[in-house]
Amino acid sequence: METKTKKLKIDLLNWYKKNKRDFSWRKTTDPWQILLIETLSQQTQLERANEYFDKFIKEFPSPKSMANSSLKIILKMWSGLGYNNRAKRLYEASKIIKKKGFDQIYPNFDALPGVGPYTKNAILSFGYGEKVLAIDTNIQRIIQRYFGLNDTKDFFKENSKYFLQNVDSRDINQAFMDFGSSICKSSNPTCSVCPIESCCNKYFSDSKSSKEKFKGSNREVRGKIVKLLVNKGHVNNLKLFEEIDEDYEKVNKALEGLKKDNLIKIKKNNIIEINSN
Ligand code: ADE
Repeated sequence: METKTKKLKIDLLNWYKKNKRDFSWRKTTDPWQILLIETLSQQTQLERANEYFDKFIKEFPSPKSMANSSLKIILKMWSGLGYNNRAKRLYEASKIIKKKGFDQIYPNFDALPGVGPYTKNAILSFGYGEKVLAIDTNIQRIIQRYFGLNDTKDFFKENSKYFLQNVDSRDINQAFMDFGSSICKSSNPTCSVCPIESCCNKYFSDSKSSKEKFKGSNREVRGKIVKLLVNKGHVNNLKLFEEIDEDYEKVNKALEGLKKDNLIKIKKNNIIEINSN
C-alpha cells in the first residue's frame, strides 16, 4: 500500500502542477478567508462558490464585520446557494471569532459552529501550513476508486502520512480537490484521459446524482421558504402555504426544521420571519 500511495501522490502532484486552478484565496493564509471559501464551497461548485466569495469578502473582510451584520442581510447575500444553515453557523462562528480571534481558538477550530473535521483541517493546512489532509468527498471518492475500498477510514489512518511527507500540504490537498472535480468526478469520470488510470482499481459504486437527490427534497422546500422570507420580509402562515407550491406535509416539515434550527421564528399571530438574532 505504501508504494502505491506514494506513486499516487507523485502522479497527482505532477498533474496538479499543470492543471491547478487559480483563485485569489489560494494564495492567502488568512484563516477568515479560508473559513469563508470552505463554507461557501460545501456542496457547491467551486467556480460558483468563488463568485459568492468575492461578494462576501468585500462586504465582510473580517469576522468582526460579519459579526456586526445581521442574519437577514447574510441570508440575502447567500441567496441561491442553498443550505441556509451554513450561513447561520458561519454568522455564529464570526461572533465567536470576533471575541476570541483565530489564534486563541487554534488548533481546535472544530469548536466553532459549522466547522467539522474537514473544514478544521482545511484551515490548519491552508492557514497554518500544518501537515494534515482535508478529507472531503473528492479525496474519499478518489481513494475508494483507486484502491477499491468501500470504507476509507482505516486507509487514511494508516496512509495519510505518506501523502504528506516532503510536500506542502496545501498542494496535495488542492491536488485531490482539483483532480476530483475535473477528472475523477462523481458522475461521468473521464477515465479515458486520466493519468492514473493504469493503476486504478476503478471501483465504482452506484449513487444517485445530486440533482436527483435534491428534487422534491426537504432541502429544496427549506430553500424556497427562506427565499420567500428574505424577499418579502415576513409572511403569514396561509400566504406561505399558498406561495410555496409543495405538499402541505412537506412545507410543514420544512418549517418545523427551520424553526428548530433557529433560522426562522413564527410569531403568535402566525407571521413567519427570519430570526434576527
Ligand atoms: N474546495 C474547497 N476548498 C477548495 C480548495 N482550496 N481547492 C479546491 N477545491 C476546494
